[in-house]
Amino acid sequence: MIIAVDGPAASGKGTLAEGLARHYGLPHLDTGLLYRAVGWAVREVPEGPDFEARAIAVAQGLDAAHLRNLDELTSAEGGVFASRVAVIGAVRQAMRQYQREFAARPGGAVLDGRDIGTVICPQADVKLFITCDSKVRMERRARQLENRGLTVDRYALYHQIEERDARDRANPHGGFYKADDAHLLDTTLLDIEASLRAAIAIVDGTMAHKAGL
Ligand code: CDP
Repeated sequence: MIIAVDGPAASGKGTLAEGLARHYGLPHLDTGLLYRAVGWAVREVPEGPDFEARAIAVAQGLDAAHLRNLDELTSAEGGVFASRVAVIGAVRQAMRQYQREFAARPGGAVLDGRDIGTVICPQADVKLFITCDSKVRMERRARQLENRGLTVDRYALYHQIEERDARDRANPHGGFYKADDAHLLDTTLLDIEASLRAAIAIVDGTMAHKAGL
Protein backbone atom coordinates (compact mmCIF):
# COMPACT_ATOMS: atom_id res chain seq x y z
CA MET A 1 0.00 0.00 0.00
CA ILE A 2 1.37 3.42 -0.97
CA ILE A 3 0.19 6.37 1.12
CA ALA A 4 0.88 9.91 -0.14
CA VAL A 5 0.74 12.74 2.40
CA ASP A 6 0.98 16.30 1.05
CA GLY A 7 0.43 19.73 2.51
CA PRO A 8 1.97 23.13 3.25
CA ALA A 9 4.77 24.00 5.68
CA ALA A 10 4.34 22.81 9.26
CA SER A 11 0.85 21.44 8.58
CA GLY A 12 1.72 18.32 10.56
CA LYS A 13 2.15 16.06 7.54
CA GLY A 14 5.55 14.74 8.67
CA THR A 15 4.28 13.68 12.11
CA LEU A 16 1.19 12.16 10.53
CA ALA A 17 3.19 10.29 7.91
CA GLU A 18 5.48 8.91 10.61
CA GLY A 19 2.46 7.80 12.66
CA LEU A 20 0.84 6.14 9.66
CA ALA A 21 4.09 4.35 8.79
CA ARG A 22 4.31 3.01 12.36
CA HIS A 23 0.66 1.98 12.40
CA TYR A 24 0.82 0.06 9.11
CA GLY A 25 4.43 -1.15 9.46
CA LEU A 26 5.59 0.67 6.32
CA PRO A 27 8.85 2.54 5.59
CA HIS A 28 8.55 6.34 5.56
CA LEU A 29 10.29 8.91 3.36
CA ASP A 30 10.29 12.58 4.34
CA THR A 31 10.89 14.05 0.87
CA GLY A 32 11.26 17.58 2.27
CA LEU A 33 14.51 16.43 3.84
CA LEU A 34 15.96 15.78 0.37
CA TYR A 35 15.22 19.37 -0.70
CA ARG A 36 16.50 20.66 2.62
CA ALA A 37 19.79 18.79 2.09
CA VAL A 38 20.29 20.30 -1.38
CA GLY A 39 19.32 23.79 -0.18
CA TRP A 40 21.66 23.55 2.78
CA ALA A 41 24.60 22.50 0.60
CA VAL A 42 24.26 25.65 -1.55
CA ARG A 43 23.07 28.06 1.14
CA GLU A 44 26.04 30.36 0.69
CA VAL A 45 25.95 30.52 -3.10
CA PRO A 46 24.29 33.75 -4.32
CA GLU A 47 21.27 33.26 -6.62
CA GLY A 48 22.11 33.26 -10.35
CA PRO A 49 23.20 30.74 -13.01
CA ASP A 50 25.96 29.35 -10.80
CA PHE A 51 23.46 28.75 -7.98
CA GLU A 52 21.27 26.61 -10.24
CA ALA A 53 24.20 24.60 -11.63
CA ARG A 54 25.56 23.91 -8.14
CA ALA A 55 22.13 22.91 -6.79
CA ILE A 56 21.57 20.53 -9.71
CA ALA A 57 25.00 18.93 -9.19
CA VAL A 58 24.25 18.38 -5.47
CA ALA A 59 20.83 16.90 -6.26
CA GLN A 60 22.34 14.52 -8.81
CA GLY A 61 24.97 13.33 -6.32
CA LEU A 62 22.79 13.36 -3.20
CA ASP A 63 23.72 10.63 -0.71
CA ALA A 64 23.42 9.75 2.97
CA ALA A 65 26.28 12.09 3.92
CA HIS A 66 24.14 15.08 2.94
CA LEU A 67 21.34 13.95 5.27
CA ARG A 68 23.42 13.65 8.41
CA ASN A 69 22.99 16.94 10.20
CA LEU A 70 19.28 16.78 10.98
CA ASP A 71 19.25 19.71 13.43
CA GLU A 72 20.54 22.09 10.77
CA LEU A 73 18.45 20.64 7.95
CA THR A 74 15.20 20.79 9.90
CA SER A 75 15.75 24.34 11.18
CA ALA A 76 13.50 27.17 9.97
CA GLU A 77 16.36 28.52 7.81
CA GLY A 78 16.80 25.02 6.36
CA GLY A 79 13.18 25.22 5.14
CA VAL A 80 13.79 28.53 3.39
CA PHE A 81 16.99 27.19 1.74
CA ALA A 82 14.99 24.13 0.59
CA SER A 83 12.30 26.23 -1.07
CA ARG A 84 14.98 28.14 -3.03
CA VAL A 85 16.22 24.96 -4.75
CA ALA A 86 12.77 23.35 -5.00
CA VAL A 87 11.83 25.79 -7.80
CA ILE A 88 14.60 24.42 -10.05
CA GLY A 89 13.05 21.88 -12.43
CA ALA A 90 16.27 19.88 -12.90
CA VAL A 91 16.69 19.54 -9.10
CA ARG A 92 13.19 18.05 -8.85
CA GLN A 93 13.89 15.82 -11.84
CA ALA A 94 17.12 14.52 -10.28
CA MET A 95 15.30 13.44 -7.11
CA ARG A 96 12.21 11.98 -8.74
CA GLN A 97 13.69 8.54 -9.44
CA TYR A 98 14.85 7.99 -5.86
CA GLN A 99 11.42 8.89 -4.48
CA ARG A 100 9.63 6.64 -6.97
CA GLU A 101 11.92 3.70 -6.20
CA PHE A 102 11.30 4.20 -2.48
CA ALA A 103 7.54 4.12 -3.10
CA ALA A 104 7.86 0.97 -5.22
CA ARG A 105 9.30 -1.12 -2.36
CA PRO A 106 7.53 -4.43 -1.86
CA GLY A 107 4.69 -3.87 0.61
CA GLY A 108 4.59 -0.16 -0.13
CA ALA A 109 5.58 2.98 1.75
CA VAL A 110 4.43 6.29 3.17
CA LEU A 111 5.87 9.41 1.52
CA ASP A 112 5.25 12.96 2.63
CA GLY A 113 5.93 16.18 0.77
CA ARG A 114 4.26 18.62 -1.60
CA ASP A 115 3.85 16.70 -4.86
CA ILE A 116 3.59 13.05 -3.83
CA GLY A 117 -0.04 12.56 -4.84
CA THR A 118 0.25 14.68 -7.99
CA VAL A 119 3.70 13.97 -9.50
CA ILE A 120 5.70 11.33 -7.61
CA CYS A 121 2.99 8.71 -6.96
CA PRO A 122 -0.18 9.60 -8.84
CA GLN A 123 -1.04 5.89 -8.49
CA ALA A 124 -0.85 5.94 -4.65
CA ASP A 125 -3.53 3.82 -2.97
CA VAL A 126 -4.46 6.56 -0.51
CA LYS A 127 -3.76 10.29 -0.79
CA LEU A 128 -4.09 12.73 2.06
CA PHE A 129 -3.86 16.49 1.69
CA ILE A 130 -3.27 18.16 5.04
CA THR A 131 -4.33 21.74 5.70
CA CYS A 132 -4.09 23.86 8.82
CA ASP A 133 -4.55 27.52 9.72
CA SER A 134 -1.25 29.40 9.19
CA LYS A 135 -1.05 30.84 12.74
CA VAL A 136 -1.56 27.37 14.20
CA ARG A 137 1.14 26.02 11.88
CA MET A 138 3.56 28.70 13.09
CA GLU A 139 2.78 27.90 16.72
CA ARG A 140 3.33 24.17 16.20
CA ARG A 141 6.67 24.75 14.47
CA ALA A 142 7.68 27.22 17.24
CA ARG A 143 7.00 24.58 19.93
CA GLN A 144 8.89 21.95 17.95
CA LEU A 145 11.94 24.23 17.81
CA GLU A 146 11.57 25.25 21.48
CA ASN A 147 11.50 21.59 22.46
CA ARG A 148 14.98 21.40 20.98
CA GLY A 149 16.08 24.18 23.31
CA LEU A 150 16.05 26.91 20.65
CA THR A 151 14.81 30.46 21.23
CA VAL A 152 12.09 31.31 18.72
CA ASP A 153 11.12 34.71 17.35
CA ARG A 154 7.47 33.96 16.46
CA TYR A 155 7.11 37.03 14.27
CA ALA A 156 10.16 36.04 12.17
CA LEU A 157 9.05 32.40 12.04
CA TYR A 158 5.57 33.36 10.82
CA HIS A 159 7.14 35.37 8.00
CA GLN A 160 9.57 32.58 7.12
CA ILE A 161 6.65 30.16 6.76
CA GLU A 162 4.65 32.70 4.71
CA GLU A 163 7.67 33.35 2.44
CA ARG A 164 8.12 29.63 1.91
CA ASP A 165 4.41 29.02 1.25
CA ALA A 166 4.35 31.86 -1.28
CA ARG A 167 7.42 30.52 -3.11
CA ASP A 168 5.99 27.00 -3.04
CA ARG A 169 2.59 28.14 -4.34
CA ALA A 170 4.25 29.95 -7.24
CA ASN A 171 6.58 27.04 -8.07
CA PRO A 172 6.18 26.45 -11.83
CA HIS A 173 7.63 22.92 -11.51
CA GLY A 174 5.62 22.11 -8.41
CA GLY A 175 2.36 20.22 -8.62
CA PHE A 176 1.74 21.55 -5.12
CA TYR A 177 -1.99 21.19 -5.07
CA LYS A 178 -4.52 18.70 -3.82
CA ALA A 179 -4.91 15.81 -6.25
CA ASP A 180 -8.55 15.27 -7.30
CA ASP A 181 -8.61 11.93 -5.52
CA ALA A 182 -6.86 13.17 -2.34
CA HIS A 183 -8.74 13.32 0.97
CA LEU A 184 -8.62 16.71 2.66
CA LEU A 185 -7.74 16.64 6.35
CA ASP A 186 -7.82 19.94 8.25
CA THR A 187 -5.78 19.55 11.45
CA THR A 188 -6.35 23.10 12.80
CA LEU A 189 -8.49 21.84 15.68
CA LEU A 190 -6.90 18.40 16.03
CA ASP A 191 -3.96 17.37 18.20
CA ILE A 192 -1.46 14.75 17.00
CA GLU A 193 -3.45 11.73 18.26
CA ALA A 194 -6.75 13.02 16.87
CA SER A 195 -5.12 13.81 13.49
CA LEU A 196 -3.62 10.32 13.35
CA ARG A 197 -6.95 8.68 14.25
CA ALA A 198 -8.65 10.69 11.49
CA ALA A 199 -5.95 9.75 8.96
CA ILE A 200 -6.15 6.04 9.87
CA ALA A 201 -9.94 6.16 9.45
CA ILE A 202 -9.47 7.65 5.96
CA VAL A 203 -6.86 5.03 4.98
CA ASP A 204 -8.93 2.11 6.31
CA GLY A 205 -12.11 3.47 4.72
CA THR A 206 -10.43 3.99 1.34
CA MET A 207 -8.84 0.53 1.32
CA ALA A 208 -12.12 -1.11 2.34
CA HIS A 209 -13.95 0.78 -0.40
CA LYS A 210 -11.34 -0.31 -2.98
CA ALA A 211 -11.67 -3.90 -1.85
CA GLY A 212 -15.45 -3.59 -2.38
CA LEU A 213 -16.24 -4.09 1.31
O1 CDP B 1 8.02 20.24 7.28
P1 CDP B 1 7.82 21.41 6.38
O2 CDP B 1 6.52 21.33 5.67
O3 CDP B 1 8.05 22.72 7.06
O4 CDP B 1 8.94 21.37 5.28
P2 CDP B 1 9.45 20.19 4.36
O5 CDP B 1 8.34 19.22 4.05
O6 CDP B 1 10.68 19.65 4.96
O7 CDP B 1 9.80 20.95 3.00
C1 CDP B 1 10.73 21.99 2.93
C2 CDP B 1 10.64 22.65 1.56
O8 CDP B 1 11.09 21.70 0.57
C3 CDP B 1 9.25 23.06 1.10
O9 CDP B 1 8.90 24.37 1.56
C4 CDP B 1 9.35 22.96 -0.41
O10 CDP B 1 9.91 24.13 -0.95
C5 CDP B 1 10.34 21.82 -0.63
N1 CDP B 1 9.70 20.53 -0.96
C6 CDP B 1 9.34 20.28 -2.27
O11 CDP B 1 9.53 21.14 -3.12
N2 CDP B 1 8.80 19.08 -2.63
C7 CDP B 1 8.59 18.13 -1.71
N3 CDP B 1 8.09 16.95 -2.09
C8 CDP B 1 8.94 18.36 -0.36
C9 CDP B 1 9.48 19.58 0.00
